[in-house]
Amino acid sequence: MTGHSTVTQTEFSDLELVHRGKVRDVYRIDSDRLLLVATDRLSAFDCILPTPIPYKGRVLTALSGFWFKRLKHIVPNHYITSDHDKMPDEVRKHPELRGRSTLVKNAEVFPIESVVRGYLEGSGWKDYQATGKVCGRELPPGLRQCDELHKPIFTPATKAVTGHDENISQLEAVNILGHDTAVELKRISLEIYREARAYALERGIIIADTKFEFGRDTKGNIMLVDEVLTPDSSRFWNAETYEPGHAQASFDKQFVREYLETLDWDKTPPAPPLPDEIAEATSQRYLKAYALLTGQELSTD
Ligand SMILES: Nc1ncnc2c1ncn2[C@@H]1O[C@H](COP(=O)(O)OP(=O)(O)OP(=O)(O)O)[C@@H](O)[C@H]1O
Ligand SMILES: [Mg+2]
Repeated sequence: MTGHSTVTQTEFSDLELVHRGKVRDVYRIDSDRLLLVATDRLSAFDCILPTPIPYKGRVLTALSGFWFKRLKHIVPNHYITSDHDKMPDEVRKHPELRGRSTLVKNAEVFPIESVVRGYLEGSGWKDYQATGKVCGRELPPGLRQCDELHKPIFTPATKAVTGHDENISQLEAVNILGHDTAVELKRISLEIYREARAYALERGIIIADTKFEFGRDTKGNIMLVDEVLTPDSSRFWNAETYEPGHAQASFDKQFVREYLETLDWDKTPPAPPLPDEIAEATSQRYLKAYALLTGQELSTD
């Protein structure tokens, strides 16, 4: 791992920062284009950890790029390039951006998250336990935690500015987006999920659920934006050890969560630092997910 430097936060006097998320820093390049920069920050229990995970930002960037290329027959997307050598000059002159940046078309992003669930976990599992429904949709009784659903379901959520996203019904999605757009986002989301899930399962990874974002390009056409089918936007489980009836070990953050559970930490900020071996093991998991899904090792020079 020598020779690789991690990045926890970026700041450039010659690039305009427009947004800092939990993991990514977003810069405006010009009126048509943005630069999404994936740092090595990791969040667990909704807190950003002070310890960066080597290669995480590069894995997220390369994996999203892989999916954008692979799924573009389903819907156009915002991806322009993640090749550092093809970036505009003002990006290329910052070597720390190499491998962790994606140049994208600026979109007018729809104010909902398009979530698809193929398995019952997270807020879906919570809703189901309380009401027998997920996002207003009745599911059969007797389902266990992490059970596979008979069919994948579209469960949109509003983007909470602070705190947690809130699940909404499909009717509410129609009210926010209009009928035609709501129907279209649902159709596209389910199609992408079905194709990606079948692909991943053959490679040993269950994509239990995932979140997409969509927007309109300058001509008004729908395009897929943000990041796609990464461990940060999805639940990835190991297909070999999958067993419904209890929580699954998270493919990427398993070591981090287990370690944090051993501490006397109340899961409110500031989060404690991670020992080197935990950060290293987590890094290996991200690299493993990338290698399994793409069939290629991420170059780690
Ligand atoms: N092509 C695009 N055009 C315009 N905005 C985009 C595009 N792609 C992604 N975005 C926006 O960029 C932002 C990326 O931020 P990021 O996901 O890092 O943080 P966040 O969503 O605010 O919080 P969290 O870390 O919880 O996800 C999101 O607001 C997303 O909607
Ligand atoms: Mg986000």
